[in-house]
Amino acid sequence: MHGMINKSIEDLVTIQFGADKWEAVKKKAGVTETAFVSNQSYPDAMTYGLVGAATEVLGLTADQVLYAFGEFWVTHTAFKGYGDMLMSAGRTIGEFLDYLPLFHTRVALIFPNLKPPRFECSDRHENGITLHYFSDRPGLSMVVVGMLNGISKLYKTPAVVTHTKFKDKGADHDEFLVNWGAADQK
Ligand code: HEM
Repeated sequence: MHGMINKSIEDLVTIQFGADKWEAVKKKAGVTETAFVSNQSYPDAMTYGLVGAATEVLGLTADQVLYAFGEFWVTHTAFKGYGDMLMSAGRTIGEFLDYLPLFHTRVALIFPNLKPPRFECSDRHENGITLHYFSDRPGLSMVVVGMLNGISKLYKTPAVVTHTKFKDKGADHDEFLVNWGAADQK
């Protein structure tokens, strides 16, 4: 995965738990890089290894680490580095999610060799949407839940995310219902 993802895991662990914990995570994962180059691709196994090591070092479940990473990615990494692109994707959380299927097409203009996930939307109504997530990478659905929570924070619109179809339980993709309140009805 792109170096920016690994760098974001580094920032999350360092900021929320401390530099010594990050060194322990790297050591446990067998990662010797002193710094991740943001537009360089690293093997996916390295990213999964860092997440696995973080669960052991921090005493968290994989779902907790993935969720925390998803939220941190949106509210910290993406917002600080690409805030204009992120926030110009919609004036409201509903507009943002409508646009999500096209989002990584824009991201791919900045990052070459991207292997991004695919999103589809259905059943859009005033206060909610059904989001379909397709990825060749296994086990990352909690990252999406964390990201959606981060987006709800950026738009200051409380939202409830319900995971309704599970690829790791045999469905052909993951599905989420996202429901938000009256704040989107401006
Ligand atoms: C400015 C904002 C964003 C940037 C710059 C960005 C960039 C990236 C990059 C570089 C990757 C790694 C892909 C690879 O290395 O092949 C990635 C993966 C991913 N992105 Fe985004 N992204 C952004 C916003 C979002 C949002 C808003 C969502 C969904 C709510 C999202 C969902 C994901 C997921 C789930 C992955 C993991 C890979 C997978 O599922 O296969 N991203 N993104």
